[in-house]
Amino acid sequence: MPEHIKYAAVGCGGMGRRHLRGAAMLYGSSRRNMELVACCDIKREPAELYADEAKDLLGSRPRVFTDIATMVREIPDLQAADVTVESGFHHVVAVTCLQAGLHVQCEKPAAVSIRGCNMMIDAARRAGCTLSIAENYRRDPIHRLARALIADGAIGTPRLMLSTSIGGRDLIAMTPWRHMQETASMPVDAGVHEADVMRFYMGEFRVVFGASRLHEKTRRKGTSAGPGGFYGAYLATMPDTIIPTGDDALYALIQFENGAFGQWIDDHAGHGEPKHERIVYGSKGSLQSFGNRNGKPSKLTFDGGTAIEDERILDYAPSYRLEPLAAELFGGDRVWSYTAPFNEIDSRILAMEYYELGECIRTGQKPEVTGEEGRADVALTYAPFEAGRLGRPVTLDDMLSLRADVYQREIDIKLGILQPASV
Ligand SMILES: NC(=O)c1ccc[n+]([C@@H]2O[C@H](COP(=O)([O-])OP(=O)(O)OC[C@H]3O[C@@H](n4cnc5c(N)ncnc54)[C@H](O)[C@@H]3O)[C@@H](O)[C@H]2O)c1
Repeated sequence: MPEHIKYAAVGCGGMGRRHLRGAAMLYGSSRRNMELVACCDIKREPAELYADEAKDLLGSRPRVFTDIATMVREIPDLQAADVTVESGFHHVVAVTCLQAGLHVQCEKPAAVSIRGCNMMIDAARRAGCTLSIAENYRRDPIHRLARALIADGAIGTPRLMLSTSIGGRDLIAMTPWRHMQETASMPVDAGVHEADVMRFYMGEFRVVFGASRLHEKTRRKGTSAGPGGFYGAYLATMPDTIIPTGDDALYALIQFENGAFGQWIDDHAGHGEPKHERIVYGSKGSLQSFGNRNGKPSKLTFDGGTAIEDERILDYAPSYRLEPLAAELFGGDRVWSYTAPFNEIDSRILAMEYYELGECIRTGQKPEVTGEEGRADVALTYAPFEAGRLGRPVTLDDMLSLRADVYQREIDIKLGILQPASV
């Protein structure tokens, strides 16, 4: 086994370029274990741009390909693929890579339906390869600390988690594909992060009641260059308006296995005052965390109004320790707040994902977010969609056994995963 795992970037769009900065962060750390040797995009122009950026950031230019089969044939010692294509293509691209014997890191959502997730999990099992879902939010030290606070009993027994995200109006968010049913509309593509954070804080979910809606029948081009500024170039060719096909808001009441409840609103058609809030109530107090990848300290509040939002918060989380690379990049293994520009923070967390993938390949250990874990995130995300259509609460088992798949069946037919005749 060579010292550095040779990998290819598959997908050279906005997130692919952010991953590249994560690779540069890993290269500059004391734990570099990966080597970028190729990049692949069905469009040559972004692949060439990516390769040029890689030369600047990593010191060597990866080989450029426009199809996976040629890449695998021409680089026989390629070991892994980092898949950052549109969400609706994850199941096809990840399965192609796994069948070619490559270990795969794939962006979230694992796939845009449970059947798509199953295809990826089965392909990884058959190939004996690692499948890691790149769920980055939970790797933010602020979320690591929040989970330890809850596990260590800082707020007593958890009873209720409120997660609210409202905004977006009628604007196109980054790319038109983020508003289409079969490529993951925003409550799926972005909402899956929150599903993962909720499960990370509260444990597995048991049952969900709720519904989803398609509020905005037309969306228009805005002016935002997206997170980190990586989507600005798309504005020039983006249509002025699009007709979305995927639901743009979900509203859910969740019961977790531990008996606690969750109220989840992920509304990407919100007008007026935007609202983003995440708070967990327990038998002794509450824990509030403020966004993602911004380093803002979380806040513990106890009866009588006593609030802890400084370094003393660590006293309530004795078990909290960051993994060594996180400690190196964030400056300590018990970080409770940090300040850095968004792109720097983003890159640190993406470096951690790459490092974990390399270690999984080297040692055979399981990734933190396996295909099954990513599938459970997808299940929680679609549960309100399906509950609304069935007019009843749906369980995790309903989701995994495909008893609740009215909305997803439409996706699977559009993607060719299911034939209309088999429905
Ligand atoms: N974790 C996060 O914070 C985060 C943030 C943004 C995006 N993402 C995820 O990253 C993925 C990509 O999003 P994006 O914003 O980069 O999209 P994008 O549209 O900017 O880029 C996707 C790229 O994939 C390429 N592509 C499509 N099919 C391909 C194939 N078969 N082979 C090779 N290349 C192919 C496209 O040509 C395009 O260049 C999505 O799954 C998205 O959910 C994650």
